[in-house]
Amino acid sequence: MSSDRLIIFDTTLRDGEQSPGCTMNFQEKLRMAHQLEILGVDVLEAGFPASSQGDFESVQAIARQAGPDIQICGLARCMHSDIQRCWDAIKDAAKPRIHTFISTSELHMKYKLRKEPEQVIAMINDCVSFAASLTPNVEFSCEDASRSDKDFLCRACATAIAAGATTINLPDTVGYAEPAEYAELIGYVIRNTEGAEKAIFSVHCHDDLGLAVANSLAALSVGARQIEVALCGIGERAGNAALEEVAMNAMVRKDFFGLESNIVTEQLYPSCRLLSMIIGKPIPNNKAIIGANAFAHESGIHQDGMIKNRQTYEIMTPASVGRKETNLVIGKHSGRNAVRVKFEALGFKLSEEQLETVFEAVKDLADRKKVIYDEDLMAMVQEKIYRQPDIYRLRHVSSQSSDTGGVPPTAAVLMDVNGEERSAAGFGVGPVDAIFNVIADMVGRTPQLEQYAINAITGGTDALGEVTVRISEKGHSAIGRGAHPDILVASAKAYVNALNRLVEIERTGMRLHSQHEN
Ligand code: KIV
Ligand code: ZN
Repeated sequence: MSSDRLIIFDTTLRDGEQSPGCTMNFQEKLRMAHQLEILGVDVLEAGFPASSQGDFESVQAIARQAGPDIQICGLARCMHSDIQRCWDAIKDAAKPRIHTFISTSELHMKYKLRKEPEQVIAMINDCVSFAASLTPNVEFSCEDASRSDKDFLCRACATAIAAGATTINLPDTVGYAEPAEYAELIGYVIRNTEGAEKAIFSVHCHDDLGLAVANSLAALSVGARQIEVALCGIGERAGNAALEEVAMNAMVRKDFFGLESNIVTEQLYPSCRLLSMIIGKPIPNNKAIIGANAFAHESGIHQDGMIKNRQTYEIMTPASVGRKETNLVIGKHSGRNAVRVKFEALGFKLSEEQLETVFEAVKDLADRKKVIYDEDLMAMVQEKIYRQPDIYRLRHVSSQSSDTGGVPPTAAVLMDVNGEERSAAGFGVGPVDAIFNVIADMVGRTPQLEQYAINAITGGTDALGEVTVRISEKGHSAIGRGAHPDILVASAKAYVNALNRLVEIERTGMRLHSQHEN
């Protein structure tokens, strides 16, 4: 079923979200899903509903908020209970899709599944038939396809198509394939699978050898028409193919691929920025399409060429990926309208209520900081708008360092705990330690601090400091972030944010199992 449409299947909220350091809470997933819809992805894999109550609830909420055009997909292992749970979560979407999978490589079947190949074929038949009895939109994936026997793959795919699968995905699960070899495999399966003409063939590549995008694109030449991607390339281990890179290859090299995608490329940069803010991972400067240097021309020869004719060194414009430049400088005297326009240019359409909240925050920051950079505004919107209501709320913190053994570093904190105001003071080996000790005591918890990182968001000594912490307690762990010109206040905010997330993780339940256990 080959056409000139390239289907973009986004797995930022499933493969991406399950990778370390990329966890999102309920509100953040909903916000991200909404942005992915604006971006124009065709299929949004919202999560793995059987893995936890939290995942089930977020997939269900995403399915319910989705518009009429986007397909909302849930992942399910090849077992009836997973498939039923997946269906229960997605069935309210206008276009639900069940994505079920099982391993087909000898290695996985023997050691992971402990099943004979014939048993796997029987499971595919049974589970895809069950999924197809719930919805006509069923995707089947052969996990570890790139290391599977070619003819066994064809049998597995033919069985899935006969049982009702309409999309067949052949993942390079471990990122082992090389582009020419992977294209050859996909072409072989498409040519030799009975019923192949009834299905769309899809690819899902991991970046362990840095080839996820190259492998995905190579498969287009032999008839694959769906690519599974994640924003900024997040995903298991080294990640998945980056959505923004795949989309811009299709657009910039339309002459080569001859395919049309539904992606609104001007939404690429705002989408990646939003993700980066939500998961608290900065975009590397040299990252293709979205990095700070992606459109910067430093060398004299390049600059000269750019002045004479931009096309000498520019294959796409910054505006085509949504990197807008505004001359609006936001500061003490900016009005509401200027703040609104600035946020729109940064990719955020704010409601009146949200605008009021950030407007107050802008004024507050302008009192303390001479120049407000775009990054400051992004950090602000993340902190003020996209964070869910917390059960612990920091009101004031003060802390003092000390360089002698005489008076140890101290901290005093005022905060709300479950709506009740509390204050306390205490000591530590340094001011950050003192703050964390006092807060932990006040909320009656003893988390381990696993990671502490500080980053100046912009240049200058009055830059906003952004602190990221990872804490763990009783087998659960959570990341928190806080931004403030005073790094001790930023540290306190990050710690309180992590505690709130820990509570949320405990409430909704950890993932019971990963996709890789069957
Ligand atoms: O990498 C992989 O094989 C997967 C499948 C579940 C599609 O993520
Ligand atoms: Zn994957």
